[in-house]
Amino acid sequence: MNQIITGHTTLTGLLGSPVAHSISPMMHNESFQQLGLDYAYLAFDVNTTELKTAIEGLRAMKIRGFNLTMPNKNLMCRLCDRLSPVAEIAGAVNTVVNDNGIFTGYTTDGIGYMESVKEEGFNIIGEKITVLGAGGAATAIVAQAAFDGVSEISIFNGKSRSYERMEEIIEKLKKQTSCTLNLFTYESPDILRRELSESVLLVNTTSVGMAPNTDDSLITDISMFHKDLIVSDIIYNPEETKLLRLAKEAGCNTFNGLYMLLYQGAASFKLWTGKEMPVSIVKDKYFKR
Ligand code: ATR
Repeated sequence: MNQIITGHTTLTGLLGSPVAHSISPMMHNESFQQLGLDYAYLAFDVNTTELKTAIEGLRAMKIRGFNLTMPNKNLMCRLCDRLSPVAEIAGAVNTVVNDNGIFTGYTTDGIGYMESVKEEGFNIIGEKITVLGAGGAATAIVAQAAFDGVSEISIFNGKSRSYERMEEIIEKLKKQTSCTLNLFTYESPDILRRELSESVLLVNTTSVGMAPNTDDSLITDISMFHKDLIVSDIIYNPEETKLLRLAKEAGCNTFNGLYMLLYQGAASFKLWTGKEMPVSIVKDKYFKR
């Protein structure tokens, strides 16, 4: 890369901790360069205790926008001037756009997931889906899917704080969308089996199965999967989780979380620049499968 930083260069970046491993600087700087945009994207190691101070500095420096990752997504919600409808409901922000000092918070994780479904060649609009997990990622996906027109979503999680938060989010989504939303625990395998039999797609939003615990899967009974079920995981390390391997054995189409990562970035890029990220180039360089 031979990007030249000038006196006019517009700043964007990522605030989180840790951030050094992130693929986002490569993805965005490559795209700026491909499109000839005088922008730069840097990763800043900033945790929640430092976030407010960092935001004040970035506002004074007139940053164009930035991404938030762990552990800053929830706190950022309270530091924004405005929120998108999905960010408001999810209570989390992964993208901020600065318009003349007004910081608007968005969450593009759900957009990224919905785009990845399309990219894999599937249509889930007007259909029923099942979601494993009720944390931050689940919330972003459920809210976006409900706003986009998925007709019914069944969510599974143990009884916990996440479960209670999801109950509140479901109530809000029911007021703002026509999606039917159900929340279950894992206690009865028969309920999970029934919900899956009525669903076109399953997504695992939990960390179960992520490296190094690659032998774990929330579903191990492959008779749970019908062959027309699309089984997806937001995990991309390992590339194929045990859940995806078992689903493939049952004859299901499967995909991992790599393109969700790509498309959440593409959505942020569009919000800052107004331009489409050159995803085919980015995909070839950084998201080879
Ligand atoms: P993220 O932002 O990546 O979604 P998170 O908000 O911590 O992370 O959410 C993780 C989700 O995975 C939660 O729904 C969590 O369930 P609890 O909050 O009830 O613990 C779920 N999860 C994590 N480990 C799990 C496990 N071993 N079994 C089932 N669910 C698990």
